[in-house]
Amino acid sequence: MATIYYTGCTLDGFIATDDHSLDWLTSRDIDMDGPMAYPGFSERTGACVMGANTWQWILDHDDDPWGPKPTWVVTHRDFAPSKQVRFTDAAVADVHAEMTEVADGKDLWIVGGGELVGQFHDLGLLDEVWVQFAPVTIGSGAPVLPRHVELRLEETARNLDFMCGRYSVVR
Ligand SMILES: NC(=O)c1ccc[n+]([C@@H]2O[C@H](COP(=O)([O-])OP(=O)(O)OC[C@H]3O[C@@H](n4cnc5c(N)ncnc54)[C@H](OP(=O)(O)O)[C@@H]3O)[C@@H](O)[C@H]2O)c1
Repeated sequence: MATIYYTGCTLDGFIATDDHSLDWLTSRDIDMDGPMAYPGFSERTGACVMGANTWQWILDHDDDPWGPKPTWVVTHRDFAPSKQVRFTDAAVADVHAEMTEVADGKDLWIVGGGELVGQFHDLGLLDEVWVQFAPVTIGSGAPVLPRHVELRLEETARNLDFMCGRYSVVR
């Protein structure tokens, strides 16, 4: 079981624009059956966690918000209840322990944002980073991982518009 940050990213290191747009990402071509694509990745994960702005983006853009995967949203806000989603302001270490319990040996997915990923890394709980780099720079936005994290490049692939990298965290 590994705890993995899986995300799309601009070439200059942002996962969303300053106003939380992902148009630069969703407008690109990716082969869903190709290397490092989402369906194959999702298959191996048993639970996921995200921050409040990422959940808000899903509410704003998805007609059928989220699937059946057990999901934790860390927040201080009062979101409307949603099936399979636990809203919590518990310590990140406790959230990780709860996720591990329900994931049944499968990997854990940190959806983002980057600061939340950093909180897991601060506790030594981040194992891998998978990034799909889109062919674009946007100058500013939500940073991919605002920490100093040493990584080892384990795997690379091209998937249509994307340059994909899988990295392990060096401890
Ligand atoms: N490119 C991609 O593939 C990708 C992937 C993921 C996300 N995104 C996008 O990137 C942007 C990320 O936004 P963001 O950087 O602001 O990050 P975020 O993690 O989605 O949201 C940050 C907010 O989550 C809450 N939070 C974070 N850690 C917490 C903790 N330990 N306990 C309680 N609450 C906590 C806080 O809000 P409150 O205190 O107000 O609750 C915080 O301001 C979004 O637009 C999202 O859609 C893109």
